[in-house]
This record gives sequence, structure tokens and C-alpha cells, in this order.
Amino acid sequence: MNEYDSERILYYLKEKGYKTVLSPEESNIIIINTCAVREKANNRLFGHLGKLKNLKESRNDLIICVGGCTAQSMGEEIQKRCPFVDIVFGTHNISELPSLIDQKLASKGSICSIKNDGFDYELDKANRVNKYSALVPIIIGCNNFCSYCIVPYVRGREKSLAPDPIIENIEKLVSDGILEVTLLGQNVNSYGKDLCTGVDFPKLLEKISDIKGLERIRFMTSHPKDYSKRLIQVIKDRDNIVNHIHLPLQSGSNRVLKLMNRKYSREDYMDIVENVKSSIKDYSITTDIIVGFPGEEKKDFDDTMDIIKRVRCDRAFTFIYSPREGTSAAGMADPVPLKKKKEWFNELLKVQNNISFEKNKEHLGKVVKVLVEGFSPKDDSMLEGRMENNIIVNFKGKKGSIGRIVSIKIEKAMSFYLSGKIIN
Ligand code: 5AD
Ligand code: SF4
Repeated sequence: MNEYDSERILYYLKEKGYKTVLSPEESNIIIINTCAVREKANNRLFGHLGKLKNLKESRNDLIICVGGCTAQSMGEEIQKRCPFVDIVFGTHNISELPSLIDQKLASKGSICSIKNDGFDYELDKANRVNKYSALVPIIIGCNNFCSYCIVPYVRGREKSLAPDPIIENIEKLVSDGILEVTLLGQNVNSYGKDLCTGVDFPKLLEKISDIKGLERIRFMTSHPKDYSKRLIQVIKDRDNIVNHIHLPLQSGSNRVLKLMNRKYSREDYMDIVENVKSSIKDYSITTDIIVGFPGEEKKDFDDTMDIIKRVRCDRAFTFIYSPREGTSAAGMADPVPLKKKKEWFNELLKVQNNISFEKNKEHLGKVVKVLVEGFSPKDDSMLEGRMENNIIVNFKGKKGSIGRIVSIKIEKAMSFYLSGKIIN
């Protein structure tokens, strides 16, 4: 969602006549679009701002802005700690950026504009960075209040975009050459509950799947508590909906899941996984795990390890718990030392990396469809693209393949990517 917001910010700047340059030194305006989900992202903001301070001192005409979730949650503190920041804007008023820039140009003071609600998403107002694959938000905000999570406080309550503008926007994207869309929401399964259109998430997926020329539909994130058999059926029935599900588990311990306010049990999660495994051919599951939630004990961590070994996700995004001010978990007793949490985290990483490697090896010798995104950032003699399940594949090929879906025979597997040979 943060990346999509950056595309919106770029749209509004381009409308105002700005163009992208390659370094801070060349720019007239610098915007940092922040994430607040973990403390590390916050700290990084202040690190970046520290570096920009000298530049600002030498170039008084430079405008420095901070937007996004950290701006939303601690806008005034950013102004106080970094008075050289010109504009702070929140998550609900990105469309106001052009007028904030005008105000700044007309006066010398610093501006902080943060709203507590509002909904200014207009789907056609985003500057698409990737020409073949587009992010499309369908529901913004979250009603779940998982006890560790800051998102409901910085993104507000769930608001779905109406189905017709979503369909029209994707039709337009496809006519411009987009082959793949990723439907975005903190919880896509809640889509439509706040509207009276009769279109829920499975129904929306069907409508989008009917769009001619759209090769791949991805979606994220799904909350296990709202997973329905109908959704699994739609994925199974439609060829252009990917067989990849990102389903955050967070913890494998029922006691911790309760403390996290996740509203499902490990048994519920396993039921969904079994349903996916038995219904969808070539399925792929990825997940998110938090290690070291307040009060998590060794036996809780062992429950997470147990479920990780049983589910065998293609990939898990793992995080050490990070207290977020204002969330209910931030006030819970947290006696386990960070050193111990790091040991658990490394243990989990080792096991999961091995599972990812084993799962990737299952693709050896297979021919898979890859949407080619460009040259590999690590090796510019190789092209890079993604399989349906989002796994990166590298291969040698011609520039003309970029933006196409090609068949690749997989020859080598690593934990996080595959490589192979183009066969058409
Ligand atoms: N600490 C650590 N990880 C977190 N996440 C969300 N909030 C926190 C936190 N306070 C993780 C969850 C979520 C992912 C996007 O970030 O696993 O699914
Ligand atoms: Fe955060 Fe939970 Fe909402 Fe996900 S579902 S954004 S973890 S509160």
C-alpha cells in the first residue's frame, strides 16, 4: 500500500510539472514516504533526515517532505525533531500535496497537514512505475486491531472502493499493456462489507477475472479469520487468478494468537491450509510470523515451529516483535530478553530457509510461466521475472522478452530464487 501511495505521490508531482531525478543533490523536492509497522522503519526515517539536513542547509530552495504512516502517527514530533522538514502530510490527504507545496512556496514556515479520516483514492491518479504489473487498492484501512499492530491507527477503518471504478481502472490498465494486477488491502477478504453493492471479494475477483487480456490476478493480504471456501473455489475455477495465497499466521500458539487478538486458532489455520492443498493444483502459500510477542514462552515458540514444519510454506516473512506506541500489546509485560528472541528468530529462519529451498527444488526440471520484469538488479546479463507464486526466476534472454510471459525450464534452485532456460 505504501508503494502504491508512492505512485500516487509521483502522479501529483508530475501534474505539478516536476520530473524524477537520480540523486538528492539534483532535486528541488524530496519526499520520504514512510512505513510505521516496525520501529526499525521509524528509525530509518530519522537516519535519512539526518543525512538530508546538510543538503538543506546548503540549498535553501530545497523542499523536504515526509508522508505516510510515520508522518500520520508522529507528525508533530517529526517537525520538532527535524525543524528543517518543510511539509509533513498524512495517509488520508495525499491528494492535497500540490496545494501544500503551493502554500510552502508562498510562505517560509513548515507545514503539518494530518487528517484523521478521509478517503481521497482516485484509482486513475497514480503514476505507474511498472509497465506490466500494477498495484490496485480495493480496500483501505483495517478494523481488526491485532494487538501488536499500528495499521488501524494510521490507516483508519476499512473503506472499500466501489466495484465499477475498480473494474474500469483495470480495463484501462490492460488496454495500456498491463498483464498482471495485485489487488491490495490490509484484509482483502473484508472487501465490500461496508458497501451495499452485493459484491464481496470472491464476486469482485470473478468480475476482474472476466477482463479480457488480464493474464494474472494476485491479491494480498488475506486474514485467516475471513477465509471462505467460496474464495478457494473461485481461485480453483479461474485460470488468471494465481494459485498463490499470502496468509499470515503470526503465531502457531493458540495462547499467543488470543493475546494477539487474531480471532482464529492454529486448528482453523491448518483447516484452511488443508483445504487449499486438497483443492488447488500447484498451490503456493506464503506467510508472516512474529517472534517474541509479549509473554511468548518457549512452548509457544515450539508451537509456531511445529506448524511451520507442517504447513511447509514456500516462503515466510519473519519479524521480531516491535512494540508500537498506542497499541494494546505495547502495554503488556514482555519479560523475554531480546537476545533470546533473536535466538528463536534465527532458529525459525534456519528451518524456514531450508523448507523454502526444498520447496524451490520441487520446481527443478519443470516448465513454468514467468512474467519478465526486466534485467536482474544483481546481474545485468540476466533477465528477471516472477512465477505465478511470486518466486523470482533469473534466465538469459533478449530484452524483447521484457513485459511478456515466457516459458522457462527451471535448472537451479536457491532458497529465494530460481534460475533456468527460456524455451520459447
Ligand atoms: N512487530 C513485528 N511485526 C509486526 N507486523 C505488524 N506489526 C508488527 C509489530 N509490531 C508484521 C506482521 C504483519 C506484517 C506486515 O508485519 O507479521 O503481517
Ligand atoms: Fe494489522 Fe491485523 Fe489489520 Fe493486518 S489484520 S493490518 S496485522 S490490525
